[in-house]
Amino acid sequence: MNQSMDNEIDSIFQKHQRNQREALIPILQDIQEQYGYISEEAVQKVGLFLAIPTSKIYGVATFYDQFHFQPKGKFHITVCRGTTCHLEESDNLLEEVSKYLKISQSEVSRDGMFSLETTTCMGACGRAPVISVNGNYYEQMTIDTFKELIESFKQRAL
Ligand code: FES
Repeated sequence: MNQSMDNEIDSIFQKHQRNQREALIPILQDIQEQYGYISEEAVQKVGLFLAIPTSKIYGVATFYDQFHFQPKGKFHITVCRGTTCHLEESDNLLEEVSKYLKISQSEVSRDGMFSLETTTCMGACGRAPVISVNGNYYEQMTIDTFKELIESFKQRAL
C-alpha cells in the first residue's frame, strides 16, 4: 500500500471509533467507493482498527455480496440476472460473454481490460436482457451485439 492510500484510509477511519465493530460495513463501503475495490492491505488495516480478524472481515463482506477484493477491469461488465432478463436468456448470454472474454464472474481479464459480475434487476426490464459497462446500460443484448460492443471498447483502448 502506498503512503497516500495509507493516509486516505486513515482519514476514512477518522469518521469512526476504534474497535467499534458496527463500523465495519460503512468503512468497507467508503474504501470501496474510494478505490473501486478493497485490497488485502486495506482489509488488514481495517482488522487492526476494529480489532476484527481478517478472516471474519472477508466472511462478513462476502455475505453482503457488494464488495470487490480485486481491482475491476478498465471495462467493468455487469450482466443482469433478474427474472425478466433470465426469461430473455440472460444465463446463455452470461455463458457466451464469459467464454468470449475468457473470464468467469468476479474475475478480471489478464490484460486488466475486462471484469465481469452479475446483478439482480437493473430496472430496465422492458428492454431485457440488459448489461452495463462502467455503469452505462446496453439493452436487448445478443451475443453478437455484445461482441461488437467489446470490439469497439478494445479499439477505444488502443
Ligand atoms: S430483470 Fe434485468 S433489468 Fe429487470
